[in-house]
Amino acid sequence: MSYEAVFAELYELVKREMSAGGAHGFEHVERVLRLAGRIAREEGADIEVVRFAALLHDLERRMEDSGEVSCHAVASAERAEKLLKERGLSEEFIERVAECIRTHRFRGNIAPVSLEAKVLSDADKLDATGAVGIARAYLFGGRYGQRVWEAEPRRERFYPGMRGEDYSPRTEYELKLSRLKERMYTSTGRRIAEKRSSFMKLFFDELEREVRGED
Ligand SMILES: [Fe+2]
Repeated sequence: MSYEAVFAELYELVKREMSAGGAHGFEHVERVLRLAGRIAREEGADIEVVRFAALLHDLERRMEDSGEVSCHAVASAERAEKLLKERGLSEEFIERVAECIRTHRFRGNIAPVSLEAKVLSDADKLDATGAVGIARAYLFGGRYGQRVWEAEPRRERFYPGMRGEDYSPRTEYELKLSRLKERMYTSTGRRIAEKRSSFMKLFFDELEREVRGED
């Protein structure tokens, strides 16, 4: 099977298995595919490896959400290896794709080594920044009954078991989203992150003014 045919088949499989909506649904995969492809071209990375990795990177996230596995990156990498092997792609190619997926997780302790893995990591984090990052944080917040704003923000990240009303995307911004720009690996990623970060700052500053009853 050609790369093109395998990609088309797996695209449909991923679309079927993942939810359409939500912060980590198929829409997220489509955005990461577009962004990772663009960064790969600008950085001179292998587009084929990057796009397969982007397509499959969050496939087993629901297993982490349901507590079946502790790390969706490792589980998704294993699933990707299996899917690509069944379709006859080379071992070398499969390992390069799997490395990208294994190392893309924000809190993961395995850092990306190859340029392709750095590109996926940057694209995935960039999707948590800018206007789309704000929209996703509020989608996630809505699911857990979070506030639009909290007067006394907590100094810890939202964790399973924490009450949603004790938290808001604004705190997520302060604790995580505002720092993503420091975690970029490529210069293209850094440039996009700078632009998106300034937009997020503008949004949360404006939100604070409005919450205080200013114009
Ligand atoms: Fe992702």
